[in-house]
Amino acid sequence: MTPSASTHIESLRAAVRYHQHRYYVLDDPALSDAEFDALFRELQRLEAEHPELASPDSPTVRVGGLIAERFEKVRHPAPILSLANVFGAEDMYAWRERLRRLLPAEEQAKLAYVVEPKFDGLTVVLHYENGRFVLGATRGDGEVGENITPNLRTVRVLPLTIPVEEDGGEHGLQNLRIEEDVTPPIDTQRASVSTTQSPIPNPQSPSLLVVRGEAYVTVADFDAFNRSQEEQGERTYANPRNFAAGSLRLLDSGISARRPLRLWVYQALIWEGVDDPPATHWDSLAYLKALGLPVAAEARRFTDEQFDELVDYLSHWHDLRARLPYELDGMVVKVDSLAQQERLGFTGKDPRWAVAYKTGGEEAATKLLDITVKVGRTGVVTPNAVLEPVAIGGVTVSAATLHNEDYISELDIRVGDTVLVKRAGDVIPKVLRPLPELRDGSEQPWQMPSVCPVCGQALVRPEGEVATYCVNNACPEQLVRKVEYFVGKAALDVVGFGSRQAELFVEQGFIHDLADVFELPWETIAAMEGYGEKRVENLRAAIEAAKSRPAARLLTGLGIRFVGSSVAEIVMAAYPDLPSLMAADVASLSASEGIGPKIATSLVDFFALQPNRALIAKFAHLGVRMSGDARVAAEGVAQPFAGLTFVITGTLPTLSREEAKVYIEERGGKVTGSVSAKTDFLLAGEKAGSKLEKAEKLGVAVVSEEELRRKGEGIVNGEL
Ligand code: IVH
Repeated sequence: MTPSASTHIESLRAAVRYHQHRYYVLDDPALSDAEFDALFRELQRLEAEHPELASPDSPTVRVGGLIAERFEKVRHPAPILSLANVFGAEDMYAWRERLRRLLPAEEQAKLAYVVEPKFDGLTVVLHYENGRFVLGATRGDGEVGENITPNLRTVRVLPLTIPVEEDGGEHGLQNLRIEEDVTPPIDTQRASVSTTQSPIPNPQSPSLLVVRGEAYVTVADFDAFNRSQEEQGERTYANPRNFAAGSLRLLDSGISARRPLRLWVYQALIWEGVDDPPATHWDSLAYLKALGLPVAAEARRFTDEQFDELVDYLSHWHDLRARLPYELDGMVVKVDSLAQQERLGFTGKDPRWAVAYKTGGEEAATKLLDITVKVGRTGVVTPNAVLEPVAIGGVTVSAATLHNEDYISELDIRVGDTVLVKRAGDVIPKVLRPLPELRDGSEQPWQMPSVCPVCGQALVRPEGEVATYCVNNACPEQLVRKVEYFVGKAALDVVGFGSRQAELFVEQGFIHDLADVFELPWETIAAMEGYGEKRVENLRAAIEAAKSRPAARLLTGLGIRFVGSSVAEIVMAAYPDLPSLMAADVASLSASEGIGPKIATSLVDFFALQPNRALIAKFAHLGVRMSGDARVAAEGVAQPFAGLTFVITGTLPTLSREEAKVYIEERGGKVTGSVSAKTDFLLAGEKAGSKLEKAEKLGVAVVSEEELRRKGEGIVNGEL
């Protein structure tokens, strides 16, 4: 080992760290990509030449590669607490009152607050010993987390050693270094509100530093990743948060390394070995920043006298969110003095000295570019908003429902308006109202068209109804939607038959009624572009398989008013086959539990119509199964959920709610809408709300989709 090689490598490492820090953390690169690459490659070359100088802290060692079998448990040095939510200004003043009551008069006067974004990612706890990153963990249950150090080491913004040298090292880099220019602090609202900390010139490296932060990905990186996954037919993620969490918890850190993970740190849990540790949260942020850790520039400090300004600032947090490239989940307000924090303490698992500020629901304002109408499978014509794309809660929204004609006229929504859009869970986003104060006079009132945009027949709005209909039974759009539903997951579930096929086959004149799905002209299709031999074979086989699904699926697929998949199953359980059901009257139909006169009448009315009876006869003639019950036994699916009642809430990782319901019901379980003492399991996904709270209150077991599947498959494999 030559001393010169060793110093050279060290100075190159320092330089790479410095430039990565500028690039990733300060967002202020001093080198072009090519210059940086040259530097990085030079370091790689030298390290390859001198394997004896290898170091796990080298910035070249970010590629991961360690494959864990499972994550080890790590006990946190201090509990990783959560935050109580507050909603709106009143809650903020009430919180301040509580603080005052808990503090003696002389302390009240000294109150000050720091407001920060609430980053929407995954909590991580990072340990630095003698300046080296040695351990990183997830939050877990707040006491014990999982050791995800190898994955965190791949996160470029996370320095592997601290402090990151101020000048990027001294040796041989003069030609690469560019003078640092000082970027002005963004959005300095008022001189009295602190927006940047005073710099700490030469921060002392702590012997032990434990910090808490949030790992995340930017909205743009998330979109790009999902787009490329989609192109390759790979799984996509629901939102940036899930993506970040999923990427950090991969057992193969080599894959984590290729995910665009980033990080903000926002709290120091432990400082050891520093002569003069910071006494306020504000100063600790400055200290962390000076050590080279990524600290968001968006923090603001307010004195108690400025509390009105603080509340006003919070009320505009949507503006901040719109400006930032990553997702926010509200704002966090913290008491600045660490001594006061300690004095205020905790209630349960929430600190008294900090709160999360949120506003109800997920809303955003955007431009209403146009209103188009869509014909549904029942002929209902729904107006839909075409929106300038806007990110709401991690999802880009460019369309929303406007319900019906009256909704638009009552709210006076005009094309060109800026409108408030709300998205909640997995439901279709809706336009809440226009913001008339933003009009410039160019906005145009809207009217329901008088004819169907697809078939050109006059639209009808029956007396006393809010809905407008295309009453042309032959309207191709209605038929497309009917077919789509018929072959969809809740009904016959034909794999490989989606909206595109429905549109194409109707447009080509292959399908005139639902039964035609079973009589497609396969030779003609095989000659069409994009329909190779394999694809045609698969589709044909899938359609063939759908013929033997239990009749409840067929009944669901008919799209009879009020007859969804659960109702279809209830009624089919009461009759041996579809023809017997068709012969039933309202009274006997209503004898089944859960079937009232409204549903019964709808069924009777449907089967009273000759074309509908003819359709059923056609199905029977084509060999589509007419019998109902015993479907599960017939399909050979075990019944691990027999006698169990489930409620579904939130967004599940892979299944839609309808699919989850089918999954449970196929295995003998029942799905109901609300949690009660009779509920056995709550199947909960992301953003579960009041149902989850209720389940927890009632002591109802909560399961994830994964657990559900394990239980659902376990019996089949004889494991349970
Ligand atoms: S401070 C004891 N600051 O929000 C106080 N938390 O709902 C500790 N979070 O689990 C939290 N941004 O992961 C704090 N600027 C921020 C934050 C933040 C996001 C997360 C944190 C916590 C959750 C609480």
